[in-house]
Amino acid sequence: MPVITCIEDLRRLHQARVPRMFWEYCESGSYTEQTFHDNSADFAQIRLRQRVARDLSDRRLGGEMIGQQVSMPLAISPTGSAGMQWADGEILGARAAQRFGVPFTLSTMSICSIEDLSEAGVGPFWFQLYVMRDEDFVDGIIERARVAGCPALVVTLDLQVIGQRHKDLKNGLTAPPRLTLPNILNMMTRPAWCLAMARTKRRTFRNIMGHVKGVDDLANLNAWTWEQFEPRLDWSMVQRIRDQWQGKFILKGILDAEDARMAVDVGADAIVVSNHGGRQLDGALSSIRMLPSIVRAVGDRCEVWIDSGIRSGQDLLKALALGATGGMIGRPWLYGLGAMGEAGVTKALEVIRDELDITMALCGERDVADLGRHNLLVPEDFEGAWG
Ligand code: GLV
Repeated sequence: MPVITCIEDLRRLHQARVPRMFWEYCESGSYTEQTFHDNSADFAQIRLRQRVARDLSDRRLGGEMIGQQVSMPLAISPTGSAGMQWADGEILGARAAQRFGVPFTLSTMSICSIEDLSEAGVGPFWFQLYVMRDEDFVDGIIERARVAGCPALVVTLDLQVIGQRHKDLKNGLTAPPRLTLPNILNMMTRPAWCLAMARTKRRTFRNIMGHVKGVDDLANLNAWTWEQFEPRLDWSMVQRIRDQWQGKFILKGILDAEDARMAVDVGADAIVVSNHGGRQLDGALSSIRMLPSIVRAVGDRCEVWIDSGIRSGQDLLKALALGATGGMIGRPWLYGLGAMGEAGVTKALEVIRDELDITMALCGERDVADLGRHNLLVPEDFEGAWG
């Protein structure tokens, strides 16, 4: 096994070990992928201010996210089909996160179901909701999350319609994959993945399959899913869900200060500044560029987290210094999962934690809570050139 020192190492291993269809699902943005690429490129524009001769002993990375103790201010984002990147991927990811002391969010579009995670005893996890047209399904899955003891509901707002990802269409993406000749030939080059998949019974969207009348095979599952994302989702529907849910309430996919204020008004405990990893509105600005205006709009009325583009502890530090109170990672945990299963997810978290710690120290800080704009060198037009 090669020595893993950074998220990029896990990314390369993931590409080598996971069938092309799922690797490309993970690694795609919508349309031209401009926003997907900007998310990382814009982090790189921000530079760090080196400070020296300061006491760097007893450094502290831990804190709280929505009142939950975390070993660093980072949570695992909901990602569809994680159980296709590696067999039982959501169980492995949730277990790694639990052991590491950071929250794990299970997607509506996961392979392992809410009940699978409960039965596996992975500890408390957050549940992400896609609002579907089928109200019975939505009410049912919110109730299932409550029964499972999920302390937080994460409602994703930026996927009422689906941003086209060319590669998924070209690959004929399904879970499980159709046994076409190109798929079989490609899977034969990924024997460890095939062996692990052969050993699990979890190979399709188990939050849905068996929980919706008439959805019992791959063909009707696909048809149901594609027509189900609720195009009428508006703030009054979000408010209804807020009122229905007793636990913490997180709104994900906020990329605009006005929407951030609305999210506060409906009672969000936290918002996630996100463009869905560049997978939805191609041409949107990066999350990191939009973060400062959203932080200003929200003040301390709710927690402001960010995802889309965090690939290192340095990125996380930049986001915290720009006013986020936490970060979330999607692709980095999937890279770890596809590379090495549970150990890979743990490795991804360790890499980011160690980078955050060392980078914080080299910036002359001992506590993540003390990070701020004073740690950064930001180009003058970083926020202001767009309007
Ligand atoms: C689903 O969340 C996706 O981005 O594919």
